[in-house]
Order: sequence, then structure tokens, then C-alpha cells
Amino acid sequence: MCGIVGYTGPKDAYPVIIKGLKRLEYRGYDSTGVALQNGSLKVYKKKGKVAELEESIVGKDLKGHTGIGHTRWATHGEPSDANAHPHQSASGKLAMIHNGIIENYTQLKQELINKGYQFKSETDTEVLLNFIEEIKKNNHCNLEEAVRIALKRVTGAYVILLLDAEEPETIIAARKGSPLVIGIGKGEHFLGSDASPMLEYTKEVVYVNDYELAIVKPDELILKNLGNEKITPYVQKLDIELAAIEKGGYDHFMLKEIFEQPQTIFDCLRGRLDTTGGKITMSGIQQYAGQIMNANRILMIACGTSWHAGLVAEYIFEELCRINVEVEYASEFRYRNPVINPGDVIIAISQSGETADTLVAIENAKNQGAIILGVVNVVGSSIARASHGGAYTHAGPEIGVASTKAFTAQLAVLTMIALKIAHEKQTIDQERYLHLLNELSEIPEKVAWVLKTKEKIQQLAEKYKDARDFLYLGRGYNFPVALEGALKLKEISYIHAEGYPAAEMKHGPIALVDEHLPVVVVATKDTYHHKVVSNIQEIKARKGKVIAVISEGDTDTAAMCDDVLIVPEADEIVAPMLSVVPLQLLAYYIGVAKGYDVDKPRNLAKSVTVE
Ligand code: AGP
Repeated sequence: MCGIVGYTGPKDAYPVIIKGLKRLEYRGYDSTGVALQNGSLKVYKKKGKVAELEESIVGKDLKGHTGIGHTRWATHGEPSDANAHPHQSASGKLAMIHNGIIENYTQLKQELINKGYQFKSETDTEVLLNFIEEIKKNNHCNLEEAVRIALKRVTGAYVILLLDAEEPETIIAARKGSPLVIGIGKGEHFLGSDASPMLEYTKEVVYVNDYELAIVKPDELILKNLGNEKITPYVQKLDIELAAIEKGGYDHFMLKEIFEQPQTIFDCLRGRLDTTGGKITMSGIQQYAGQIMNANRILMIACGTSWHAGLVAEYIFEELCRINVEVEYASEFRYRNPVINPGDVIIAISQSGETADTLVAIENAKNQGAIILGVVNVVGSSIARASHGGAYTHAGPEIGVASTKAFTAQLAVLTMIALKIAHEKQTIDQERYLHLLNELSEIPEKVAWVLKTKEKIQQLAEKYKDARDFLYLGRGYNFPVALEGALKLKEISYIHAEGYPAAEMKHGPIALVDEHLPVVVVATKDTYHHKVVSNIQEIKARKGKVIAVISEGDTDTAAMCDDVLIVPEADEIVAPMLSVVPLQLLAYYIGVAKGYDVDKPRNLAKSVTVE
């Protein structure tokens, strides 16, 4: 997710753009930049937040009535001045900003290199821009036509805004898969990833659709499809407040991020999971596939929710790859004197990529010869840079302190890695491999199904919000889900909650059970289901209240519980990405019902960069 802003009209463009970028920083804040038209094309960009850019260009020539601006969430190429947008074409006459991922950029880049093009950045954006310029040059056409031709060869998602030094008042924009809003003013137009940059100037907007191209001048907006046919813009009147826009209309970032999961898991799988060809493509893992396959053990090192993802991965890797896996709290691992053997592979899991304990733990292990693979969300973060290889989770900025979409994206990446290794190691047969690829590909849709049960979960939250303690139980792949559900509740509602392996109840915790204790049991249909059902009966026999996460259609289990949270059936290996979602929502709605700030819970920080 990146933030894009554009303006053309009688105002000075720079102040409009820089204020708009500040409003969009929640979409990404690795680097920022602006391009302004004032007789010539001027581009100012740098790594860091909008305020840092602003400070760095005080006193520069910032005149111009047409311009574009960008705040980046890195996907290709780590945060740096060179990788910041806007990018300029080889001739310097074109400037472009982009939100999205061009999946076939490596092929386009090679074609351009063969024609003598050189690149200043590692981004897919610069490739697309020079591809457009190459077409403009060869076809002797204007920018609008060159963009239209180029986009017919592009696969992936994009919103692009372009300036051409030869058309100083015009902005060319196009979208597919990423959002673009155009604000209609009097003799002026505004563009943005959402309406927040334009809301104070106009509430009349046009939402550009996929495969549409916009030619935007101060007093004219033309919409066309890629077949060069004009489209009548559908102008809507906005009745939304600024604060609500940043949260996409949701009450909190946490809820928005829970509801983003069908898309973020899809984005995580995109370009990697090929169910038709039966392939998993992960370049950052491929180069270490041999070391992983031959590793005596794999160490998963993480904290908090990411540690829970590592625990799920332990079950998956051992089941599929038949490799010994150990899961370590980074804070414990770094302070004891762990045994690191040459050939050990460490998978460091982190949303922020800045967790101090995890970073130091892997630095120590790397110094002792271990291979470090990072499963990280923030591109170019410290843990990503300290790793030899790995895979990004592409979940976009996670603003809510409670990690939700990052967790399911971590599970998606870790499952793909395990499947890739198991397939190459031939520890699973082709039939099971293809079955699991397909199961994984169906997860985004199944998560969307679960999200539709939100009203039921909200009612349960009202019913149980005053409980003083909760127990969360699960077995096998769902044991870490029980731990994660308990953590979510603790950090959002401040209610004491404890996750436990369901079978451990009889070794002590069952003494806690009485009619006041809600027990959440993750009881989806899997290898352990009949055992978990016995645990439910043990609790009911002691008057405990059971809230069970069950598979759709499991009426027998439903009949023995006080309340149920339903998820679609799925193979147990991918089921945690489903069974965690109702627990995220339960924690969220209980926190809201108790009147707490669910995006910024007390005592917590989003990234624990302290020890
Ligand atoms: C999760 O909801 C918490 N906010 C916290 O446990 C978090 O998962 C932990 O601090 C690890 O952070 P990281 O994934 O950024 O390394």
C-alpha cells in the first residue's frame, strides 16, 4: 500500500500535495517524493517520512500548478532515496508514481536493458515508466496513447500518475487493482489513493475503475478504457469525515486490518502460488532450499504473535518436511548460551522487522554460522536486512498494535515455504502437494466467509465482556491458535486469558473451571477433533461455559457448547488462518464493548524496539 496524490489547477501544487501526503502516511512511510511542473519537471524525493522530505527541500524551487506526490510502502527494492517515487524516465521528460506490484517487470526490464536502458533504482515502477517512454518514442505518440499501449502488456496491480514535461498542465492516471479517487473542483482537479487529500477542497469525487485511464487537466477530466473509448465519469458526493477515511470507513485500524485479510492473504500468495502449474515461486527461499532441505533442524525465532506463527509452522514443517523444528522466544534465545550447529537454519518471523530481541538473537546466531531467513512484513527493515534470504509477507502497513493480518500472512508464507521444501524433498506425494496448494489458494475466500459472521461474534462479545478470566484451548495446529486468541484478548480488553494445550487441562488448569469461566475451545474438524470434543465434555461436566470454534455443519459439537464461532472446513494444515479470525474479532468487540482504545492498548507499542 502506498499513498499517491496529484493536483492540477490554479493553486500552488506543492502545499496541496504535501498536506495530502501527510494524510496518507498511514498507507506507508518508507520514503516520499514530489514532482512539480513549472516550465520544467522538478523531482524531490528521499527515504523517510513526509516531514523529513519537507524539511530537506525548504528553499528549493517549489513553484508549479501541476504536480504529483507519493509516500511509499516498499515491495520491490528496500527504502532508499533511489527507490523513492516519483521516478523519472531515462530522458528525464516523464515522471511517475505508482501504487501496486508489476508482476512481469523482470521480463520488461530485460527487454529494456537489451535496448540499452540503464536503471537508477531496483523498483518495478522505474521499469514500467521506461517501458512507457520507449513506446512513446517508437510509436511517435502522446503520453496517453503510450500508457494505454503499455498497460496492455502489464500484469499485476497498479495505480500510476504520470507527468510529461511536454504537457505541463496534464496528469495521466490509470488503475487496476489499487484505489484511485479524482476530486472535482472549480477549474481544478485532485487525485488520491483515497479522498483524504481532497476532502477539504471538494466532496465531489469520481472513483476510477479497473482498466480505466484518466486524462486530467485543470478544467477537464476525460475517462477512457484501454480500448480508447470515452467513459462518462460517475460523480459522487462524499459524506464521510476525514478520520473515517484513513480507517477505510471502519471504526478502528484493527477492525480494518482484520477485514483486509482476504486481500492481504491473496496479495501474499500472488505471484508465488501457482495451483495450475503446481508451483511455488519464492526466489528468496529458492537460493537456500538446499540448506533448508538438508538442515538437521530449523529454529523459528520470534516474539508474541509472530512466535505463535512459528509454533504453527513447527507442526507444518515437521509434518510435511520431516525436519526437526524448535520454536524459540527471541528474548530467551538471545540471553542463554544456545547451541548453534553449522547447517542450522533459522527462520526469524517479525511483522515490524525491528523487534530488538529478535534482531539480536539472529545476529548472534549468524555470527555462529547459522543461515538466517526472514519472514518479515516491513521491506528493508533491520531484521530483513540482517537475514541472508527469506520472503516478505506483503500484508501492507499494520497500524493496530494488535497484530492480525500480519499473523495470517506469516502463516501463508510459512506454509508455502514448507510446501516448497517438502515437494523438493519429496516427503509428500504429488497428490497431497497439489491438494494443499489448492487448500491454500481457497483461504482468502474462506476468510471472507468468516468475516460475514461478525454480527454473531459481536453479540457474543456483549455476552462475555464482563468475565474476569478466560481459558483458550486447542490441540495440534490449533494449539498455537488458542495461544494467539488468548493474547489478542489480553492485549485488547485487559481481561486475563490463558492459552493451553487442551489435553493439559487434566494436569491442573481444570481446577479453574466453574460456571463463571468462559473457555474458548478451538474444535475445528481435524485429526484431534474427537479428543477435543472430550475436553469440551470435561468442561461442561464442571459447569464451565464453552465457546467453541467449529467447522461449518458440525452440529454435534455445536449441541454440546454454550456458543459457537463457525469457520468453513479446511485441511488442518491451513485451518489456523481461518480459526484465528473469529478470535481476533471476539477480542476486538470485547475491547470495544469495554470502551478501550483497541488501536493503542495501554502499556503497549506497535514495535518493541527496546529490550
Ligand atoms: C501482537 O499482537 C503483539 N502486538 C506483539 O506480541 C507482537 O507480535 C510482538 O511484539 C512481535 O512483533 P514483530 O512481529 O513486529 O516482531
